[in-house]
Amino acid sequence: MNLGVVVAIDGPAGAGKSTIAKALADDLGLEYLDTGAMYRGVTFEVLKRGLEATDVDAVGRVAREIHFTQTRNTLSVNGVDATAAIRTPAVDAAVSHVAANSAVRDELRKRQRQWISEHGGGVVEGRDIGSVVFPDATLKVYLVATPMVRAQRRVAQHGGDVVEIARAIAERDERDSTRSDSPLRQMPDAVVVDTSDRSVAEVIAEIRALLAARQPQGST
Ligand code: DC
Repeated sequence: MNLGVVVAIDGPAGAGKSTIAKALADDLGLEYLDTGAMYRGVTFEVLKRGLEATDVDAVGRVAREIHFTQTRNTLSVNGVDATAAIRTPAVDAAVSHVAANSAVRDELRKRQRQWISEHGGGVVEGRDIGSVVFPDATLKVYLVATPMVRAQRRVAQHGGDVVEIARAIAERDERDSTRSDSPLRQMPDAVVVDTSDRSVAEVIAEIRALLAARQPQGST
């Protein structure tokens, strides 16, 4: 199956994945898929139904039955606009439990692959895109930034106390990197790009150059 150009953007929370992935998709004229929003969408529905995020069977059922409508900047869950609700502290706190659930991961992975095949490629951001979802991606980028920069970015976006947010990010990273099913990890064939002290334009230029070097001349 020819999936077209697939750029995998993985990395920890606050490394700049969404900003970079969207800007890159614009720049290249490709579609953009935020897979974290899907894990957040399942978490939103779980909390809405009053279920425990750690209830493996019930949460797995929610993932299999859920209906998403996802656009570049919005997510509806079973017909309800959840764009803002998937970014609340309650969802932040519960989502890594939902993301550790193998039934949820199996289901969402299937939907992500289907999305890419329907859209003929795209820029896909997440934690396991280059390692598990698209191991044959055209380019794998692993974005990093210092813990303080990552916490400050979250504060700039959503407010809050920087020390408290740094602690919450560290906890989530720990759970995302130590879970048994497709943990966050840097693949040997991924290119590490540090976004700490660089502009979006600089990072995009670097990724474009990396992509050009991987594609035969004359192809998109
Ligand atoms: O990128 P984000 O903060 O929106 O991701 C939300 C959570 O989902 C985060 O705890 C990691 C998890 N996630 C994952 O396990 N696999 C993905 N492909 C994307 C996100």
